[in-house]
Amino acid sequence: MTTTIAGNVSRGGEPAPAGPADSPFVRACRRLPVPHTPVWFMRQAGRSLPEYRELRAGVPMLESCRRPELVHEITMQPVRRHGVDAAILFSDIVVPVAAAGIDLEIVPGTGPVVAEPVRAAADVDRIRPIDAADLSFVDEAVRLLVADLGDTPLIGFAGAPFTLASYLVEGGPSRTHVKTKALMYGAPEIWHALCARLGDITEEFLRVQVNAGASAIQLFDSWAGALSEADYRRFVLPHSTRVLASLADAGVPRIHFGVGTAELLGAMGEAGADVVGVDWRTPLDAATVRIGPDRAVQGNLDPCVLFAPWPVVEAEVRRILAEGESTPGHVFNLGHGVLPETDPDVLTRVVALVHEASAR
Ligand code: CP3
Repeated sequence: MTTTIAGNVSRGGEPAPAGPADSPFVRACRRLPVPHTPVWFMRQAGRSLPEYRELRAGVPMLESCRRPELVHEITMQPVRRHGVDAAILFSDIVVPVAAAGIDLEIVPGTGPVVAEPVRAAADVDRIRPIDAADLSFVDEAVRLLVADLGDTPLIGFAGAPFTLASYLVEGGPSRTHVKTKALMYGAPEIWHALCARLGDITEEFLRVQVNAGASAIQLFDSWAGALSEADYRRFVLPHSTRVLASLADAGVPRIHFGVGTAELLGAMGEAGADVVGVDWRTPLDAATVRIGPDRAVQGNLDPCVLFAPWPVVEAEVRRILAEGESTPGHVFNLGHGVLPETDPDVLTRVVALVHEASAR
Protein backbone atom coordinates (compact mmCIF):
# COMPACT_ATOMS: atom_id res chain seq x y z
CA MET A 1 0.00 0.00 0.00
CA THR A 2 1.22 3.45 -0.87
CA THR A 3 0.15 6.47 1.06
CA THR A 4 -0.18 9.32 -1.38
CA ILE A 5 -1.60 12.07 0.72
CA ALA A 6 -2.52 11.76 4.36
CA GLY A 7 -5.52 9.51 4.81
CA ASN A 8 -5.73 8.62 1.14
CA VAL A 9 -4.34 5.16 0.65
CA SER A 10 -4.16 3.43 -2.70
CA ARG A 11 -3.79 -0.32 -3.04
CA GLY A 12 -1.19 -2.27 -5.00
CA GLY A 13 0.78 0.79 -6.04
CA GLU A 14 -2.13 2.16 -8.09
CA PRO A 15 -2.01 5.93 -8.23
CA ALA A 16 -4.64 7.45 -5.95
CA PRO A 17 -7.43 9.31 -7.72
CA ALA A 18 -6.15 12.80 -8.32
CA GLY A 19 -7.96 15.84 -9.62
CA PRO A 20 -9.61 18.73 -7.84
CA ALA A 21 -12.07 16.50 -5.94
CA ASP A 22 -9.09 15.03 -4.05
CA SER A 23 -7.28 18.34 -3.54
CA PRO A 24 -6.33 19.55 -0.04
CA PHE A 25 -8.97 22.31 -0.36
CA VAL A 26 -11.90 20.00 -1.17
CA ARG A 27 -10.68 17.42 1.39
CA ALA A 28 -10.50 20.07 4.15
CA CYS A 29 -14.03 21.22 3.27
CA ARG A 30 -15.13 17.61 3.72
CA ARG A 31 -13.22 17.33 7.04
CA LEU A 32 -10.86 14.68 5.63
CA PRO A 33 -7.13 14.47 6.47
CA VAL A 34 -4.95 16.81 4.38
CA PRO A 35 -1.20 17.04 3.66
CA HIS A 36 -1.27 20.74 4.61
CA THR A 37 -3.90 23.33 5.48
CA PRO A 38 -5.24 24.73 2.19
CA VAL A 39 -5.33 28.49 1.67
CA TRP A 40 -7.05 30.92 -0.70
CA PHE A 41 -8.14 34.55 -0.29
CA MET A 42 -11.50 36.17 -0.83
CA ARG A 43 -10.95 38.89 -3.49
CA GLN A 44 -7.62 37.34 -4.41
CA ALA A 45 -8.32 38.41 -8.01
CA GLY A 46 -8.50 42.15 -8.19
CA ARG A 47 -6.97 45.48 -7.50
CA SER A 48 -4.11 44.32 -5.26
CA LEU A 49 -2.51 42.89 -8.43
CA PRO A 50 -0.85 45.26 -10.95
CA GLU A 51 -1.44 42.69 -13.72
CA TYR A 52 -5.19 42.87 -12.91
CA ARG A 53 -5.26 46.67 -13.03
CA GLU A 54 -3.54 46.54 -16.41
CA LEU A 55 -6.02 44.05 -17.90
CA ARG A 56 -9.04 45.92 -16.54
CA ALA A 57 -7.97 49.36 -17.80
CA GLY A 58 -10.89 50.86 -19.74
CA VAL A 59 -13.20 47.84 -19.32
CA PRO A 60 -16.20 48.40 -17.00
CA MET A 61 -16.53 45.78 -14.24
CA LEU A 62 -19.78 44.14 -15.44
CA GLU A 63 -18.53 44.10 -19.01
CA SER A 64 -15.32 42.35 -17.89
CA CYS A 65 -17.42 39.64 -16.18
CA ARG A 66 -19.13 38.92 -19.51
CA ARG A 67 -15.89 38.23 -21.43
CA PRO A 68 -14.87 34.59 -20.85
CA GLU A 69 -11.23 35.01 -21.98
CA LEU A 70 -10.78 37.98 -19.66
CA VAL A 71 -12.47 36.14 -16.76
CA HIS A 72 -10.17 33.19 -17.39
CA GLU A 73 -7.02 35.31 -17.31
CA ILE A 74 -8.04 37.38 -14.25
CA THR A 75 -9.03 34.24 -12.31
CA MET A 76 -5.67 32.60 -13.10
CA GLN A 77 -3.51 35.57 -12.07
CA PRO A 78 -3.54 34.98 -8.28
CA VAL A 79 -3.21 31.20 -8.75
CA ARG A 80 0.00 31.65 -10.72
CA ARG A 81 1.38 34.41 -8.53
CA HIS A 82 0.58 33.15 -5.02
CA GLY A 83 0.27 29.36 -5.41
CA VAL A 84 -3.08 29.33 -3.60
CA ASP A 85 -4.93 26.01 -3.20
CA ALA A 86 -8.06 27.18 -5.02
CA ALA A 87 -9.12 29.64 -7.69
CA ILE A 88 -12.30 31.69 -7.32
CA LEU A 89 -14.20 32.66 -10.44
CA PHE A 90 -13.81 36.33 -11.32
CA SER A 91 -17.36 37.66 -11.41
CA ASP A 92 -19.63 39.54 -9.02
CA ILE A 93 -22.67 38.78 -6.87
CA VAL A 94 -24.78 41.19 -8.97
CA VAL A 95 -23.97 39.54 -12.35
CA PRO A 96 -27.05 37.23 -12.26
CA VAL A 97 -29.25 40.09 -11.01
CA ALA A 98 -28.24 42.15 -14.04
CA ALA A 99 -29.01 39.09 -16.20
CA ALA A 100 -32.49 39.11 -14.62
CA GLY A 101 -33.18 42.52 -16.12
CA ILE A 102 -32.27 44.83 -13.22
CA ASP A 103 -30.57 47.99 -14.44
CA LEU A 104 -27.39 48.32 -12.37
CA GLU A 105 -23.78 49.35 -12.55
CA ILE A 106 -20.69 48.56 -10.46
CA VAL A 107 -19.22 51.96 -9.67
CA PRO A 108 -15.47 51.96 -8.88
CA GLY A 109 -14.83 52.85 -5.24
CA THR A 110 -18.54 52.47 -4.38
CA GLY A 111 -19.90 49.09 -5.46
CA PRO A 112 -23.17 48.03 -7.08
CA VAL A 113 -25.62 50.90 -7.77
CA VAL A 114 -29.18 50.09 -8.88
CA ALA A 115 -31.05 52.57 -11.13
CA GLU A 116 -34.54 51.85 -9.74
CA PRO A 117 -34.46 50.38 -6.23
CA VAL A 118 -36.82 47.50 -5.39
CA ARG A 119 -39.27 48.53 -2.67
CA ALA A 120 -42.80 47.46 -3.74
CA ALA A 121 -44.46 44.25 -4.92
CA ALA A 122 -44.46 45.53 -8.52
CA ASP A 123 -40.67 46.04 -8.29
CA VAL A 124 -40.21 42.41 -7.31
CA ASP A 125 -42.14 41.38 -10.44
CA ARG A 126 -39.61 43.32 -12.56
CA ILE A 127 -36.96 40.76 -11.55
CA ARG A 128 -37.53 38.06 -14.12
CA PRO A 129 -36.44 34.44 -13.60
CA ILE A 130 -33.23 33.47 -15.38
CA ASP A 131 -32.07 30.25 -17.01
CA ALA A 132 -28.73 28.83 -18.08
CA ALA A 133 -28.92 30.62 -21.46
CA ASP A 134 -28.83 33.99 -19.65
CA LEU A 135 -25.49 32.99 -18.13
CA SER A 136 -23.81 31.29 -21.10
CA PHE A 137 -20.77 33.55 -20.64
CA VAL A 138 -20.35 32.14 -17.10
CA ASP A 139 -20.58 28.57 -18.40
CA GLU A 140 -17.94 29.33 -21.03
CA ALA A 141 -15.54 30.99 -18.56
CA VAL A 142 -15.81 28.13 -16.05
CA ARG A 143 -15.11 25.56 -18.78
CA LEU A 144 -12.01 27.45 -19.95
CA LEU A 145 -10.79 27.61 -16.36
CA VAL A 146 -11.43 24.00 -15.43
CA ALA A 147 -9.50 22.87 -18.52
CA ASP A 148 -6.53 25.03 -17.50
CA LEU A 149 -6.55 24.52 -13.71
CA GLY A 150 -5.83 20.78 -13.67
CA ASP A 151 -5.84 19.57 -10.05
CA THR A 152 -6.50 23.04 -8.64
CA PRO A 153 -10.17 23.41 -7.70
CA LEU A 154 -12.29 26.31 -8.93
CA ILE A 155 -14.71 27.87 -6.44
CA GLY A 156 -17.98 29.14 -7.86
CA PHE A 157 -19.98 31.64 -5.83
CA ALA A 158 -23.13 33.71 -5.48
CA GLY A 159 -24.58 36.36 -3.21
CA ALA A 160 -27.10 35.15 -0.63
CA PRO A 161 -30.65 36.57 -0.75
CA PHE A 162 -30.15 39.04 2.15
CA THR A 163 -26.96 40.63 0.79
CA LEU A 164 -28.39 40.86 -2.74
CA ALA A 165 -31.68 42.25 -1.40
CA SER A 166 -29.78 44.92 0.52
CA TYR A 167 -28.18 46.26 -2.70
CA LEU A 168 -31.51 46.16 -4.55
CA VAL A 169 -33.59 47.81 -1.82
CA GLU A 170 -31.04 50.45 -0.80
CA GLY A 171 -30.09 51.14 -4.42
CA GLY A 172 -26.41 50.83 -3.45
CA PRO A 173 -24.12 50.08 -0.52
CA SER A 174 -25.46 51.02 2.91
CA ARG A 175 -23.92 51.26 6.37
CA THR A 176 -27.20 50.81 8.28
CA HIS A 177 -29.33 48.80 5.80
CA VAL A 178 -32.19 51.01 7.01
CA LYS A 179 -34.40 50.74 3.90
CA THR A 180 -33.82 47.00 3.74
CA LYS A 181 -34.84 46.55 7.36
CA ALA A 182 -37.83 48.90 6.91
CA LEU A 183 -39.11 46.63 4.11
CA MET A 184 -38.38 43.49 6.12
CA TYR A 185 -40.29 44.71 9.21
CA GLY A 186 -42.97 46.75 7.41
CA ALA A 187 -43.89 44.47 4.52
CA PRO A 188 -42.74 40.95 5.33
CA GLU A 189 -44.71 39.44 2.45
CA ILE A 190 -42.91 41.62 -0.10
CA TRP A 191 -39.62 40.87 1.67
CA HIS A 192 -40.14 37.11 1.45
CA ALA A 193 -41.29 37.35 -2.19
CA LEU A 194 -38.12 39.32 -3.01
CA CYS A 195 -35.85 36.83 -1.23
CA ALA A 196 -37.60 33.88 -2.89
CA ARG A 197 -37.05 35.47 -6.33
CA LEU A 198 -33.40 36.21 -5.52
CA GLY A 199 -32.99 32.67 -4.21
CA ASP A 200 -34.12 31.30 -7.61
CA ILE A 201 -31.59 33.51 -9.39
CA THR A 202 -28.79 32.53 -7.01
CA GLU A 203 -29.59 28.84 -7.44
CA GLU A 204 -29.37 29.15 -11.22
CA PHE A 205 -26.07 31.09 -11.05
CA LEU A 206 -24.55 28.41 -8.78
CA ARG A 207 -25.97 25.54 -10.84
CA VAL A 208 -24.42 26.88 -14.05
CA GLN A 209 -21.00 27.09 -12.36
CA VAL A 210 -21.23 23.59 -10.89
CA ASN A 211 -22.50 22.05 -14.14
CA ALA A 212 -19.55 23.62 -15.97
CA GLY A 213 -17.10 22.04 -13.52
CA ALA A 214 -16.68 24.21 -10.41
CA SER A 215 -15.39 22.03 -7.52
CA ALA A 216 -17.01 23.97 -4.64
CA ILE A 217 -19.34 26.92 -4.16
CA GLN A 218 -19.40 29.79 -1.69
CA LEU A 219 -22.57 31.63 -0.74
CA PHE A 220 -21.63 35.18 0.30
CA ASP A 221 -23.99 36.71 2.87
CA SER A 222 -21.52 39.49 3.54
CA TRP A 223 -23.97 41.83 5.29
CA ALA A 224 -25.98 39.30 7.35
CA GLY A 225 -24.08 40.44 10.47
CA ALA A 226 -26.28 43.56 10.47
CA LEU A 227 -29.14 41.40 11.85
CA SER A 228 -29.98 40.01 15.29
CA GLU A 229 -30.12 36.25 15.50
CA ALA A 230 -33.93 36.33 15.86
CA ASP A 231 -34.36 38.44 12.73
CA TYR A 232 -31.79 36.37 10.85
CA ARG A 233 -33.72 33.20 11.69
CA ARG A 234 -37.04 34.71 10.68
CA PHE A 235 -36.18 36.72 7.58
CA VAL A 236 -33.02 35.19 6.10
CA LEU A 237 -32.26 31.65 7.23
CA PRO A 238 -35.17 29.97 5.34
CA HIS A 239 -34.03 31.51 2.05
CA SER A 240 -30.33 30.71 2.44
CA THR A 241 -31.22 27.19 3.60
CA ARG A 242 -33.27 26.65 0.46
CA VAL A 243 -30.43 27.80 -1.81
CA LEU A 244 -27.89 25.56 -0.08
CA ALA A 245 -30.29 22.59 -0.08
CA SER A 246 -30.86 22.98 -3.82
CA LEU A 247 -27.14 22.28 -4.33
CA ALA A 248 -27.00 19.31 -1.96
CA ASP A 249 -27.17 16.85 -4.86
CA ALA A 250 -24.39 18.59 -6.78
CA GLY A 251 -21.64 16.68 -4.98
CA VAL A 252 -19.47 19.73 -4.25
CA PRO A 253 -18.72 21.31 -0.86
CA ARG A 254 -20.74 24.40 -0.01
CA ILE A 255 -19.22 27.30 1.97
CA HIS A 256 -21.35 29.95 3.69
CA PHE A 257 -19.74 33.26 4.66
CA GLY A 258 -20.68 36.53 6.33
CA VAL A 259 -18.98 39.38 8.20
CA GLY A 260 -19.74 40.37 11.83
CA THR A 261 -21.60 37.09 12.32
CA ALA A 262 -20.25 36.04 15.75
CA GLU A 263 -23.81 35.85 17.14
CA LEU A 264 -25.11 34.15 13.99
CA LEU A 265 -22.56 31.36 13.56
CA GLY A 266 -24.83 28.69 15.03
CA ALA A 267 -27.77 29.72 12.86
CA MET A 268 -25.60 30.08 9.76
CA GLY A 269 -24.32 26.56 10.36
CA GLU A 270 -27.93 25.33 10.42
CA ALA A 271 -28.42 26.70 6.90
CA GLY A 272 -26.69 23.51 5.77
CA ALA A 273 -23.30 24.39 4.28
CA ASP A 274 -20.30 22.08 4.70
CA VAL A 275 -18.03 24.97 5.70
CA VAL A 276 -18.79 28.18 7.59
CA GLY A 277 -16.66 31.27 6.95
CA VAL A 278 -15.63 33.15 10.10
CA ASP A 279 -14.37 36.73 10.30
CA TRP A 280 -11.44 37.84 12.50
CA ARG A 281 -13.62 38.78 15.50
CA THR A 282 -14.19 35.17 16.57
CA PRO A 283 -11.27 32.75 17.13
CA LEU A 284 -11.74 29.59 15.03
CA ASP A 285 -11.79 27.28 18.06
CA ALA A 286 -14.58 29.35 19.65
CA ALA A 287 -16.41 29.52 16.29
CA THR A 288 -16.41 25.75 15.94
CA VAL A 289 -18.07 25.39 19.35
CA ARG A 290 -20.92 27.57 18.06
CA ILE A 291 -21.11 25.95 14.62
CA GLY A 292 -20.87 22.33 15.79
CA PRO A 293 -18.71 19.34 14.86
CA ASP A 294 -20.31 18.59 11.48
CA ARG A 295 -18.87 21.53 9.59
CA ALA A 296 -15.42 22.77 8.67
CA VAL A 297 -14.46 26.41 9.18
CA GLN A 298 -12.79 28.94 6.88
CA GLY A 299 -10.83 32.00 7.91
CA ASN A 300 -9.85 34.19 9.56
CA LEU A 301 -6.88 36.57 9.31
CA ASP A 302 -7.86 40.24 9.61
CA PRO A 303 -7.10 41.71 6.14
CA CYS A 304 -5.58 44.75 7.93
CA VAL A 305 -2.92 42.55 9.57
CA LEU A 306 -1.33 42.22 6.10
CA PHE A 307 -0.24 45.86 6.52
CA ALA A 308 1.71 45.10 9.73
CA PRO A 309 5.44 44.21 9.88
CA TRP A 310 6.10 40.60 8.81
CA PRO A 311 6.76 39.20 12.34
CA VAL A 312 3.24 40.32 13.31
CA VAL A 313 1.74 38.70 10.20
CA GLU A 314 3.66 35.50 10.90
CA ALA A 315 2.55 35.33 14.53
CA GLU A 316 -1.10 35.85 13.52
CA VAL A 317 -0.93 33.18 10.80
CA ARG A 318 0.57 30.70 13.28
CA ARG A 319 -2.06 31.54 15.92
CA ILE A 320 -4.87 30.94 13.42
CA LEU A 321 -3.34 27.65 12.24
CA ALA A 322 -3.09 26.52 15.89
CA GLU A 323 -6.72 27.46 16.56
CA GLY A 324 -7.69 25.68 13.34
CA GLU A 325 -6.19 22.46 14.77
CA SER A 326 -9.13 22.10 17.14
CA THR A 327 -11.76 22.46 14.42
CA PRO A 328 -13.12 19.52 12.36
CA GLY A 329 -11.55 20.96 9.19
CA HIS A 330 -9.81 24.26 8.41
CA VAL A 331 -9.47 26.23 5.18
CA PHE A 332 -7.16 29.21 5.74
CA ASN A 333 -8.47 32.53 4.40
CA LEU A 334 -8.84 36.14 5.44
CA GLY A 335 -11.80 37.18 7.56
CA HIS A 336 -13.01 39.29 4.60
CA GLY A 337 -11.69 40.24 1.15
CA VAL A 338 -8.18 41.39 0.23
CA LEU A 339 -8.02 45.20 0.44
CA PRO A 340 -6.93 46.86 -2.83
CA GLU A 341 -3.87 48.51 -1.18
CA THR A 342 -2.45 45.15 0.00
CA ASP A 343 1.13 44.34 -1.02
CA PRO A 344 0.70 41.16 -3.11
CA ASP A 345 4.13 39.88 -2.02
CA VAL A 346 2.81 39.60 1.55
CA LEU A 347 -0.05 37.40 0.28
CA THR A 348 2.47 35.14 -1.48
CA ARG A 349 4.49 34.87 1.75
CA VAL A 350 1.36 34.01 3.74
CA VAL A 351 0.57 31.13 1.35
CA ALA A 352 4.11 29.74 1.71
CA LEU A 353 3.98 30.08 5.50
CA VAL A 354 0.57 28.35 5.78
CA HIS A 355 1.83 25.45 3.67
CA GLU A 356 5.13 25.08 5.51
CA ALA A 357 3.81 25.56 9.05
CA SER A 358 0.90 23.15 8.57
CA ALA A 359 2.74 20.39 6.65
CA ARG A 360 1.73 17.04 8.13
O1 CP3 B 1 -11.33 37.27 -6.21
C1 CP3 B 1 -12.52 37.11 -5.91
O2 CP3 B 1 -12.92 37.02 -4.74
C2 CP3 B 1 -13.51 36.85 -7.03
C3 CP3 B 1 -14.32 37.86 -7.48
C4 CP3 B 1 -15.36 38.60 -6.66
C5 CP3 B 1 -15.65 39.95 -6.92
N1 CP3 B 1 -16.74 40.30 -6.17
C6 CP3 B 1 -14.92 40.78 -7.87
C7 CP3 B 1 -15.00 42.25 -7.74
C8 CP3 B 1 -16.25 38.14 -5.68
C9 CP3 B 1 -16.34 36.80 -5.02
C10 CP3 B 1 -17.12 39.25 -5.39
C11 CP3 B 1 -18.25 39.15 -4.46
C12 CP3 B 1 -18.90 40.39 -3.98
N2 CP3 B 1 -19.22 41.50 -4.68
C13 CP3 B 1 -19.37 40.55 -2.67
C14 CP3 B 1 -19.28 39.51 -1.58
C15 CP3 B 1 -17.91 39.44 -1.04
C16 CP3 B 1 -17.53 40.54 -0.11
O3 CP3 B 1 -16.51 41.17 -0.39
O4 CP3 B 1 -18.22 40.74 0.89
C17 CP3 B 1 -19.95 41.82 -2.57
C18 CP3 B 1 -20.56 42.44 -1.33
C19 CP3 B 1 -19.87 42.42 -3.87
C20 CP3 B 1 -20.37 43.76 -4.29
C21 CP3 B 1 -19.23 44.57 -4.78
N3 CP3 B 1 -18.71 44.48 -6.05
C22 CP3 B 1 -18.41 45.50 -4.05
C23 CP3 B 1 -18.64 45.90 -2.61
C24 CP3 B 1 -17.41 45.95 -4.92
C25 CP3 B 1 -16.25 46.87 -4.63
C26 CP3 B 1 -16.51 48.28 -5.02
C27 CP3 B 1 -15.23 49.09 -4.97
O5 CP3 B 1 -14.82 49.58 -6.03
O6 CP3 B 1 -14.65 49.24 -3.88
C28 CP3 B 1 -17.61 45.30 -6.16
C29 CP3 B 1 -16.77 45.43 -7.35
C30 CP3 B 1 -15.79 44.31 -7.53
N4 CP3 B 1 -16.12 42.99 -7.52
C31 CP3 B 1 -14.41 44.44 -7.78
C32 CP3 B 1 -13.91 43.14 -7.93
C33 CP3 B 1 -12.50 42.73 -8.25
C34 CP3 B 1 -13.65 45.74 -7.93
C35 CP3 B 1 -13.84 46.18 -9.34
C36 CP3 B 1 -12.70 47.04 -9.82
O7 CP3 B 1 -11.60 46.50 -10.05
O8 CP3 B 1 -12.92 48.24 -9.97
